Parts: sequence; structure tokens; C-alpha cells
Amino acid sequence: RILLVLNGPNLNLLGTREPEIYGHDTLADVEALCRDAAAAAGYGLEFLQSNHEGVLIDAIHAARGTIAGIVINPGALTHTSIAIADALSGVELPVIEVHISNVHRREEFRHHSFVSAVATSVVIGAGVNGYRLAIEQLAYLGV
Ligand code: DQA
Repeated sequence: RILLVLNGPNLNLLGTREPEIYGHDTLADVEALCRDAAAAAGYGLEFLQSNHEGVLIDAIHAARGTIAGIVINPGALTHTSIAIADALSGVELPVIEVHISNVHRREEFRHHSFVSAVATSVVIGAGVNGYRLAIEQLAYLGV
């Protein structure tokens, strides 16, 4: 069984982008962490980052029938994209939404997520360990 980890815009800059908010780990570190957590729980893993909303939507559509569960950090698209939320509900897979930072401690515009309304579970403010928690949550759900 294979899990899909998706990362949205600007997460390619992890490690150098506002490290006081997002920490010093890079996206490659996050991928290694995810591969480790997935293997420990007995899953294979696909890992994708894109700065393009449509690429993320296409990956969500392609997950149908091939992927057991999705972990997604949609970046700023969290707060703007009904299209990503619609894609996630359309494929009817378990979805764990991850935010590295505690978005509720930050600007008001980060407090609303279109994705939370369609997510199975949400992990917020746990740093990059949130990705591990999300993978463990999919295992807990028995996907
Ligand atoms: C983020 C929070 C979003 O508000 C922001 O736009 C991001 C990263 C997080 O992981 O904390 O790009 O999703």
C-alpha cells in the first residue's frame, strides 16, 4: 500500500525560508523523514512538491485507485483553494492535512482552511514532525 505526500507552493524553500517559523530542515529532510515513517508503518511512499495548483490537483486525481491515503501541506493554497478541497473530496481517500507552523498563532488570514473541511485529520504546529504524525495517523486509521 502506497501513501502520497503532497507539498504546495514555496515548500521547496524549506530550510532557508523564514527558518524562525518553519525551522531549518529542508524539503529533502522532510522527504527522508516521510520515507522512514512510511517504511516503519509498512507503506510505500510517493512524494511531490509543486508550486502549481493544477499539478497538485492532477496528482490528487491520479491517486484514485493507486494510493491508500494522502498527506498534504497545501501551503498558502490552504487558505485560498476551493479547487484543491474539491479534488480531495472528489477522490474519496483519507486525507491528513499538515501545517508545520501553528497557523492559529499567526495572521488572521491563515486561520481559515478550505482543506480542513474535507480532511480526515489535521496536524498543526508540530514542525516537520507533523508529517511523521500524519503518516502514523493513516496507519492508525488502518488505511
Ligand atoms: C504552512 C502555513 C501556510 O499558511 C503557509 O502559507 C505555508 C506553510 C505551514 O506548513 O505552516 O506555506 O502550510
